[in-house]
Amino acid sequence: MRIVTLILTVFIALAFVGSALAVPAGKTVEFKDGAMGKVIFDGKVHADKGLKCNDCHTKIFPMKKTELKMSEMNEGKECGTCHNGEKAFSVKKDCGKCHKK
Ligand code: HEC
Ligand code: HEC
Ligand code: HEC
Repeated sequence: MRIVTLILTVFIALAFVGSALAVPAGKTVEFKDGAMGKVIFDGKVHADKGLKCNDCHTKIFPMKKTELKMSEMNEGKECGTCHNGEKAFSVKKDCGKCHKK
């Protein structure tokens, strides 16, 4: 009986830790813009590239959805911190990689 309780406790604890990491990492944030089509930021795509929470939070982005501006990105802020043609494809060229119909 004790063993069962222990196993259950460990199992629940692991499941909890797993989801605490997986939910934000697998989360998508959707920016709906009329003119250029919506932009989906996919946490998993970025996590798969080895990026950790603190690569983005909170020096580049707060941990909540805000309004992003293309003009800021073109100056190397927000998504443009990495999407500058060096660390990742550039915000000044590959519009369609982010803006989907
Ligand atoms: C490559 C950059 C990047 C990484 C890595 C990243 N995030 Fe984010 N996260 C974002 C962006 C972009 C947003 C939206 C911010 C905005 O709209 O200003 C966001 C939003 C969030 C939000 C708010 C979501 C909402 O709908 O309001 C949470 C919570 C969050 N991130 C947690 C995490 C955690 C936990 C990790 C690590 C497992 C992580 N993020 C890794 C870029 C990142
Ligand atoms: C900390 C660095 C970093 C930040 C900040 C960042 N990205 Fe990325 N992103 C990457 C890297 C690295 C890749 C993979 C390399 C590449 O595709 O050039 C990538 C890939 C992508 C992809 C390609 C997915 C595919 O189809 O393969 C999209 C779309 C994308 N990012 C959108 C965004 C958006 C939108 C934002 C801002 C909300 C953002 N990224 C912020 C680093 C970043
Ligand atoms: C790395 C991803 C990414 C790339 C590449 C990108 N954008 Fe954006 N863009 C965004 C995000 C995120 C927003 C914010 C959308 C929202 O809030 O609805 C945005 C917003 C916009 C807007 C809305 C108004 C504004 O200024 O914020 C326009 C217009 C725009 N982008 C044009 C472009 C054009 C043209 C290109 C190519 C030269 C481009 N974008 C490339 C991510 C990207």
